[in-house]
Amino acid sequence: MKKIHVELDTSYPIYIGRKFLSGTNIAKFCGKLGHQVVVIADNKVAKIYGEALLNNFKKERIKTHLLNFIANENNKSRIIKEELENKMLSLGCGRDTCIVAFGGGITTDLVGFIAATYYRGIPMVYLPTTLLAMVDASIGGKTGLNTLYGKNLIGAFYQPKAVFAYIGTLETLPKNEIKNGLVEMIKHAIIYDKKYFSCLEKNIDLEEAILTSCKIKKNIVMHDEKDMNIRQILNFGHTIGHALEQVSQYQLKHGEAVALGIIAESYMSFKLHLLSEKVFERIKAIFANNNISTKLGKPYSRRLIKKALLMDKKNLNQSPRFVLIKDVGRVHIGNSGYTSVVTDEIIDQGIDILC
Ligand SMILES: NC(=O)c1ccc[n+]([C@@H]2O[C@H](COP(=O)([O-])OP(=O)(O)OC[C@H]3O[C@@H](n4cnc5c(N)ncnc54)[C@H](O)[C@@H]3O)[C@@H](O)[C@H]2O)c1
Repeated sequence: MKKIHVELDTSYPIYIGRKFLSGTNIAKFCGKLGHQVVVIADNKVAKIYGEALLNNFKKERIKTHLLNFIANENNKSRIIKEELENKMLSLGCGRDTCIVAFGGGITTDLVGFIAATYYRGIPMVYLPTTLLAMVDASIGGKTGLNTLYGKNLIGAFYQPKAVFAYIGTLETLPKNEIKNGLVEMIKHAIIYDKKYFSCLEKNIDLEEAILTSCKIKKNIVMHDEKDMNIRQILNFGHTIGHALEQVSQYQLKHGEAVALGIIAESYMSFKLHLLSEKVFERIKAIFANNNISTKLGKPYSRRLIKKALLMDKKNLNQSPRFVLIKDVGRVHIGNSGYTSVVTDEIIDQGIDILC
């Protein structure tokens, strides 16, 4: 079991192991945080791993409830949050309850926000089961929900007490979902670590790559927990990416949309003479070589994409802001900290390269 320590105001460990539940005792850990435990699980994950997890808690004689929900972007919502909270209230869960989020990024975002607000905040543990949640969503404390007006617009910063990531659970994850995690790993390399990018181009060992990505994300959030400064570089590809997710009505998965966002925002960097064409082509190639689409499959209207950009939560004065890059491993310091406001024409060129 590998351990990474995230040092923040409230620090916590990330444990990374292989076989599900081996090498650690989650039940004991949670038992120290509360008198009872509520596991809120993605229903597909609960079907595969729920019983084994509950047995683990049973062995330690910890009172545990398992609540399920269907994990999709439409259910990362205030309605499902309320439903789950009502179930917890009806079960008599008080402030001495520990919540376990068991699933991918949809689950950690939703359950993290429940934990942040239930009885004004109760202890929470993450058990990520997708590659994306292991390397990204479970680190750094961003929780949130989608609204009709845009993605992740309601939420809170709330840190877990620990993260337990078992790489073995990825064996049941569909191949396409692995790609979604890979996209965030490629993003980590582009914004932070040129050597890691070269390694990813050569297909390095998955466990090693997971560790590297977790360390990159941890290093960035440790310097800027509340997203005021350098943490914004993690939004590379996400300004366009979130708009595409929304316009596609979540037909495009988060990873697919972010990959397209990275290509668009790299192209914008090239058009602004910050990035060479050769590096832009190298970035496009790493996605193509991993069978990750570099073009929008459907003709989403440029007007609607730009309308969605106006609701991005990074906007200042109603102008969308973009993280731009100068090279692999080098982010551009823009006209608004680590982000830049660009002309309409540059945004159009970024969108058009995807068509
Ligand atoms: N908070 C953050 O810092 C942060 C960072 C990146 C992404 N996110 C959010 O994460 C979300 C995307 O998360 P995701 O890509 O993990 O998607 P997800 O949670 O929807 O999971 C993907 C799919 O895999 C299934 N699944 C999960 N684990 C499985 C397993 N081990 N075996 C079989 N099936 C499994 C799920 O049921 C789902 O159908 C987005 O909403 C995004 O906004 C948050």
